[in-house]
Formats: sequence, C-alpha cells, structure tokens
Amino acid sequence: MNNFTYHNPTKLIFGKGQLEALTTEVPVYGKKVLIVYGGGSIKRNGIYDNVVEKLNEIGAEVHELSGVEPNPRVTTARAGIEICKKEGIEFLLAVGGGSTIDCTKAIAAGAKSDADIWDIVTKKVEAEDALPFGTVLTIAATGSEMNRGSVITNWELNEKHGWGSPHTSPKFSILDPTHTMSLPREQTVYGMVDIMSHVLEHYFHHTSNTPIQDRFCEGILRTVIETAPKLLDDPENYEYRETIMLSGTLALNDMLNMGYQGDWATHNLEHAVSAVHDIPHGGGLAILFPNWMTHVLDENIARFKQLAVRVFDVVPNGKADRDIAEEGIMKLREFWTSIGAPDKLADYDIDESTVETMAGKTVQVREEYGNFKKLNKEDSKEIYQASL
Ligand code: NZQ
Ligand code: ZN
Repeated sequence: MNNFTYHNPTKLIFGKGQLEALTTEVPVYGKKVLIVYGGGSIKRNGIYDNVVEKLNEIGAEVHELSGVEPNPRVTTARAGIEICKKEGIEFLLAVGGGSTIDCTKAIAAGAKSDADIWDIVTKKVEAEDALPFGTVLTIAATGSEMNRGSVITNWELNEKHGWGSPHTSPKFSILDPTHTMSLPREQTVYGMVDIMSHVLEHYFHHTSNTPIQDRFCEGILRTVIETAPKLLDDPENYEYRETIMLSGTLALNDMLNMGYQGDWATHNLEHAVSAVHDIPHGGGLAILFPNWMTHVLDENIARFKQLAVRVFDVVPNGKADRDIAEEGIMKLREFWTSIGAPDKLADYDIDESTVETMAGKTVQVREEYGNFKKLNKEDSKEIYQASL
C-alpha cells in the first residue's frame, strides 16, 4: 500500500424514517435554505412534501431551484448561484440523485466565489470556500452523497468535467432506502451498473499488498450481482433497496481506495460520450467497461484472473490464465445484459461519425489518462470502435 490519510467529513444518516434528522441537522447551518431538485420525481413520490414539512417545522425560509438535468448543466448551477447571492442563502439541500447533488456542489462553491463556476469546474480557478449543504438521496448510484466530487456539463461547449474540492463534501446525507422505491427500472439498472463500475475502477491498479481492499471490492461486487435480479423482480423490497443503497455509498466514498489509486479511464471515456450525446452515465459505462477491460487485459492478466475467479466463479480447471480472465470479462457483460443494461453505442443511436470527436474530448484535459494503463486518443478511438 501507499501511505494515506483518510478523512470523510460527511455524516451518513441511513435508514427508514431518517428524514426526521433534517429538523436537527439543518438548523446547525442556518435558516435560509435553498432546496435543489431535478425534474419533478420528488413531487410525484411525495418526498418534496415531506422535506418541506420538516423545514417548515424548524421555521426555515425556503427557496427553491428545480429542473436540474440528468447530466447537470453549468447554466443551472449559475442560476442557483444567483439565487444564493441575491437571497443570502445559508444552507443548500439537494434532494435527488447524483445530478442534483453535483449541481448543488457547484452552486455551493460558486456562491462563495467571484469566479464563474465553469472556471472552477475546469480547474482554472480553485474553490476556496463553499456554502454548507446536505443531501437527501433518492437514487443509489454515484456515491456523490459521501464524496467531494461533482460532474458538470457545459452543453454549449459539449464538455463534461469532473471536479471537486475539500469544501464540497456534504455536511450530512440522509439515505432512506424507501426513497428509491419509485425509481423506474432502467434508472435502478443504471445505478447498479455505476456502482459496480466504481468498484471496478478501484480494482484495477498496480499497488502491491491490498488484500483487504481487494476483498472489500469483491464483496461489494458479489453483493450487487446477487441482489440486482432479486431487486428488479421485487422493486419495493426494503432489504434489497437497502443493500444497493449502502453499496452505492461505499463504492465511492474513498474507503475502497485506501492506500492506492484506481484507474478511472472508463469514466473519462463515458463522460466524453455523455458530453456529445447526453446519454445516462450508467448506460454508457455498461457499454464501455468490458471493452476497456479487453483493451488493457495484458497489462496485468493475474488481476483479471482474480476478478474472474473470485467474483464471477470462473473455475480455473487447467485453463490458461488469459482464457480465465477473458471468461470473467464475458461474465460481467452477460450479467449487465441480463439485467437490461445496453451493450453497444448503437443502442443510443451513436455511430462512427462522432468517434473522432468523442476521442478528442477524452484527451482534452490531459494527453494521457487512466492509471492502470495510460491511454491516449488512439486508445480511445479503438475502445469506442469496439463499442459501436
Ligand atoms: O430529475 P428527476 O425528476 O428527479 O428524475 C431523476 C432523473 O431523471 C430520476 N430519479 C432520481 N430519483 C428518483 C428518480 N425517479 C423516480 N424516483 C426516484 N426516487 O432518475 C434520473 C437520473 O437521476 P440522476 O441524478 O441523473 O442519476 P445519477 O445519480 O445516476 O447521477 C448521474 C450524474 O452523476 C454523475 C454522472 O456523470 C451524471 O452526471 N456522476 C457523479 C459522480 C460523483 N459526483 O461522485 C460520480 C459518478 O461516476 C458520475 O460520473
Ligand atoms: Zn460513475
């Protein structure tokens, strides 16, 4: 392992009925509250009413920003920043999924800065402070509820970038699994693919002696694989929802990568696809991840073999290591297909015509990306071609 310091300042408040905690958590930070949410799912499933009721109980002055897009836009963040500055907002409350939370992180940082938020997202300017914010999570997927990261899209420029700052961890996150029961089937699937992808991004590294971290990763992967089909058959089952919700947080709250750095090339490849085609993040990952794996397999076949044997129950049985590793990749693909995830870019009507553009975006920030294996624009093109 490498040396590391682990500090996660987000208070995790997990379980049925935990929305009540708003009445004690919010007043710590102030009474002028901006609720940030998406396209209206929280109004249909009643979460909005329950949140407003709790805020009314503590006499909060409630302001609202609605309409945060999946793949949240910088323009929406700017609108939120304007409200914060004009109204003197003291606390932000994101109610929704990764998109809403990521947009809230941008608003929180932008409200405390004179710079345009896009300059912060593109790392031209560093966020020096942020308004405090909390989250009420409604979809298990990104882990944004317990990390400092945020991913923002600039649709005018067709760019989508991840950024983060020590100031953009939520103060608290409320995770009530019942809040995820209204999710449409495909969003539940995308969420589970994203969760598994985060674990896999961690898993591929070259640091020696990470046995605990490996087993944590394998444990989460096996758990999601075991739970996913049962949850899809029984979407209102509290225990399945609970299992997936906790998996999502643990997959990207920096606990798995203590002492080493994961890869993250596939996320870079996916963000470039979303930047041009505005597809769901989890859908893009399901298509790209197995193709990235095949592309980099020879970098460390033993690692892929370990995944195949320990997570996908591939029986070695005298087979060559490479064959075992490939069988593992195939089983991952088969699993995602079995739960209804897409497996080719054509499923989103994406063809060869934008491969060059997307590949260009993967190397916009750095000429090479990924940690397990450094990739360049040519690699991006090959992976996209294999994904068509
Ligand atoms: O907008 P509403 O109406 O709320 O509907 C949303 C949205 O259409 C709906 N939804 C959410 N909860 C629901 C619900 N519908 C019914 N019932 C519920 N309980 O689901 C749709 C997707 O929501 P979104 O927030 O976009 O999903 P997700 O959490 O997957 O977030 C995706 C975004 O996060 C970024 C992605 O790139 C993408 O922009 N990521 C953020 C990360 C981070 N901050 O750490 C890491 C990830 O790897 C990822 O890149
Ligand atoms: Zn992701």
